[in-house]
Amino acid sequence: MIFKNAELLLEGGFRRADFRTENGKIVEIKEKIEGEGKDLRGLAVLPGLVDIHVHLREPGFEKKEDIASGCRAAVKGGFTQICCMPNTKPVTDNKVTVTYIKARAREVNLCKVHPVGAITEGQKGETLAAIGGMKAAGAVALSEDGKTVKDTKLMANAMLYASDFGLKCLCHCEDEYLADGASVNEGYSSTLTGLKGSLRAAEDIIIARELCLAESLNLPVHICHVSTYSGVQLIREAKARGVKVTAETCPHYFTLTDEAICSFNTYTKVNPPLREERDRLAVIEGLKDGTLDCIVTDHAPHHKDDKNVEYPLAAFGISGLETSFALSYTALVKSGEMTAEELVKKMSANPAAILNLEGGALKEGAPADFIAVDLNEEWTIEPEAFVSKGKNSPFGGKKVFGKIKCTAVDGEIKYEEK
Ligand code: DOR
Ligand code: ZN
Ligand code: ZN
Repeated sequence: MIFKNAELLLEGGFRRADFRTENGKIVEIKEKIEGEGKDLRGLAVLPGLVDIHVHLREPGFEKKEDIASGCRAAVKGGFTQICCMPNTKPVTDNKVTVTYIKARAREVNLCKVHPVGAITEGQKGETLAAIGGMKAAGAVALSEDGKTVKDTKLMANAMLYASDFGLKCLCHCEDEYLADGASVNEGYSSTLTGLKGSLRAAEDIIIARELCLAESLNLPVHICHVSTYSGVQLIREAKARGVKVTAETCPHYFTLTDEAICSFNTYTKVNPPLREERDRLAVIEGLKDGTLDCIVTDHAPHHKDDKNVEYPLAAFGISGLETSFALSYTALVKSGEMTAEELVKKMSANPAAILNLEGGALKEGAPADFIAVDLNEEWTIEPEAFVSKGKNSPFGGKKVFGKIKCTAVDGEIKYEEK
């Protein structure tokens, strides 16, 4: 297929060009290619976005989401590759479940799905899961996401075994004793609302622990959904010393603060919790100076039954795949914090590199995973119109820039705006 007149984001910036795909690859990028083609005039063509932190909920929680609905949400959001977390039922802690997820994703045939295996059996924190088998079946990383491996010795062993199999641990950082069942950040908003708060320290202590392990063992580690200014600083300092650490954050941590919880809207309940303005600004600084390598959604779809309850009882999580790009583009690029190129790196090349995935760049010979976006179109977020089963977004009614018009995976168009 030939695609014409788009503004292509290539190495070195945007360039007006045509491109041709064949057998799932980009085979030619040129100022003008002769022949019939799809006209993308007025649109930016970017590398397909990569989200290394998604909850697809299948097997086990198909009421919240399943692989088909999650993948539809992914391609609608501009993602061509996603990694799905293992807090399913049964837990994705074995090669059979990893194999199942991959097979089902192939059947669904929308975006590329890479399973993340659990660190411990049943995510119980007691015994390491069968890592080799999961790697052989196609797991691309290990995580206990949803919680932290409490036992530090077990975590050290996990990092050693993971590295033997060429895998990285993606760490959800939360000291369970300190967090102690809290719903929100400990601060002014928790005092106003009377909701039980959790200190930044609950996150920071485990970030520091994982950094100490990575440094002592000289092994890589990846820190999930960083939300505190102090966590950003810990990672910045570790990077400066040469610790092999990479880190992510999510759009809600640089667009919202815990003021949002004062509405008691349970769609603002997320783990780690929304923090304060100081944290929000530090997360943006961290993204800008490279302390935070990538933006992920932590797409955590939930059924209404799990959210339409009293705040302390509601499930944690935000349905994020369909809003991530526009929220990020609006908050970071439209506002002048970074260039579109820099943002796209944080959402494609960088996350792909962290897990050694192919993709993340538009060039001849690369997989034809790309999106066409109208960067100037303003639209209003309407969670009820999400294709994800999870309508739990605190961004309903918010106006944002950047509309995904079309998503192609291996040269096939998997989503096109109607
Ligand atoms: O908000 C969250 N939701 N944070 C997590 O760590 C887990 C996730 C989920 O699975 O719902
Ligand atoms: Zn998590
Ligand atoms: Zn998560």
